[in-house]
This record gives sequence, structure tokens and C-alpha cells, in this order.
Amino acid sequence: MEGRIKEILQKALELIEDSENLENLEKIQQIRVQFLGKNGELTNVLRGMKDVAPELKPVIGKFVNQARDEITNRIETRIAELTAKSIEQKLNSESVDITLSSKRNPKGGLHPCSIVINEILGIFTQMGFQVKQGPEVETDFFNFQTLNIPKDHPAREMQDTFYINDELLLRTHTSPMQARTMISQQPPIRIVNPGKVYRPDDDATHSPMFQQIEGLVVDKGITLCDLKGILETFAKALFNENTKTRLRPSFFPFTEPSVEVDVTCAMCGGKGCRICKGTGWIEILGAGIVNPKVLENCGIDSNIYSGFAFGLGIERITMIKYGIPDMRILFDNDIRFLKQFN
Ligand code: DAH
Repeated sequence: MEGRIKEILQKALELIEDSENLENLEKIQQIRVQFLGKNGELTNVLRGMKDVAPELKPVIGKFVNQARDEITNRIETRIAELTAKSIEQKLNSESVDITLSSKRNPKGGLHPCSIVINEILGIFTQMGFQVKQGPEVETDFFNFQTLNIPKDHPAREMQDTFYINDELLLRTHTSPMQARTMISQQPPIRIVNPGKVYRPDDDATHSPMFQQIEGLVVDKGITLCDLKGILETFAKALFNENTKTRLRPSFFPFTEPSVEVDVTCAMCGGKGCRICKGTGWIEILGAGIVNPKVLENCGIDSNIYSGFAFGLGIERITMIKYGIPDMRILFDNDIRFLKQFN
């Protein structure tokens, strides 16, 4: 019997040594069952103790117990060894070099023109205007005809554009949204419409693509005073409280009368400087009382309703607001320039 126990012990220890890595932890548990479990090899030997001669029982019993203790100890040690080994392997393979400098993600920001658009829309929405957007590829009908610029009208010269075909073009201004709105909605109307517009110009103060915001108010009893009041409030909010506004007569086919609106130069406060070319005034937009012909073109009764409209250039206002001398800087997207606005 002693020989049998030795044999079992030997076998168990060999199996335990053999269990190489942590995946074999499971295997170790199996070994525990194989030798020490209910039907384990050593357990079965113990069961056979009833047939052992009484005088031998203490000796054999002690022997079996020693074998069981040894197997148990060896299993525990092996588990500890394998666990430590696996932790060390993990630490080595997943180590973090804390001396490396961190990766910086540069923060993005809004383009100065977008900042100005948001600001202007904010001012008008606070006054109860609704923001609308229209298509950049526009029909000749909405871009010109409804706005009282018939085919072959000389005013088309002012706004030559990129034609897609005889009827489709890249819109030359945001004014078509006036017509689109009036055709789809009866007064009262109070909208602003930001968007890109296109013209074949390219120099220090013109770009083939630029942005405008259009404004339109149509209701009963709207006059030039309403236009002046709204634009004065707007100019003070956009530039500063001391900004003054003046209207100069002008011409647009879709407004009658038409005006150009100047504000006192935000840079010098009206004294005269480089930005306002010494005059103290800067033109910021075109505007006027909606031509009754345009109202009628859009199905609005000009005997009941009247309105005012205005259109302003975003790049121009951005240049005035920030003292930018050349419009092309706004399109270069030089990071050193853009960073200054955020
Ligand atoms: N659409 C004109 C332009 O692009 C600007 C303009 C002038 C818009 C007068 C208006 C207006 O709504 O009333 O040159």
C-alpha cells in the first residue's frame, strides 16, 4: 500500500509541475479533483483503509495524510507561481511610458465670417425675425424676374453670374428668398436669410463666392421709418452703442425707393481713418421699400401691404468689424490668421 501511495504522490507532483502557464490553472483544479476529489485516487486509497491490518493503520494513515498535504501545498504554490508569472507578463507587455509627452489635439474654431453671421442672426432673431435658407442653384425666375429684373434688363449687368443653362444659375444675391417666401406665405413676414452667393468678380474687395444676409419685412403700414429704426438698432448692436446710421438714395429694381446705408466707422468712431478712407462713414448694406411690382409678382396685394428689404455682405462687415484690409485673407484660411478669432 505504501508503494501505491508513493506512486500516486509522484504522479500528482509531476502533473502539477507540468502545468506550465495560467491557462493551466484549470488543469491544476482538475488535478486536485483527480487526486483529492470524492472519487480521487488518494481518496480511494483512504477508503481502502478499512481492510488494512489494525496495527498498520496509524502508519498508513499518517502516510496518506502526508501525501494529501504535500499535494495540496504543491497545488497552492503552483497556483501562486503561475498567477505571479502571468501578472508580470502582462505588466511587461502593457507597460506605459509616462515620460512620453502627450499628444495635443488642436482646438478648432469658427471662421470670422461664421462668427459674424451668428451674431447678426442673433440680433435679428431677438427682434422676432425668422431664419430661412434657400437654394444656391437658383432659377432665372426667382433670381431676376420676380425681383423686377426682366430678361435683357440692363440691371442684369450689375449682377452677371455663372449660368448652368438658360434657366438655372448660381444665385447672384440672397434676394430670391424674398420672392420664395412671399410666394409661399402671406404677411406678416419677418425673415432673415443667410447664404452664399456668386458673381464673376475677383480682386481685393470682391470674391467669386461671398456671403450675404437678406432681410424682409412685409405687413400693413410698413414705411421707410421702420427700416431706419430696425437698421439703427441692428448697427448699434453689431458695432457699438455710439454707431450712427445714414441713408443715401440708390437704385435697385426690387425696391422703390432704394437706399444705401452707411454707419459711422467702428474703428475711428467717425473721425476718419484708413478703414473708412478718411470719411468717417462706411457703407454696410443696400435696402429699400419693397417695389409694389415685386409684391404683386408674388401674389401679395400692394394696396393692403407694404414692406422693406435689405441685403448685406458678410465679408465686408467682417472686414469692417475686425479691420481686415484685404478680403482675400478671409479665403486663404491661414491658421495664424484664423486662430486670432477663437
Ligand atoms: N441684392 C442686392 C445685391 O446683392 C442687395 C440688396 C439691395 C438687397 C436692396 C435688398 C435690397 O433686399 O432691398 O446687391
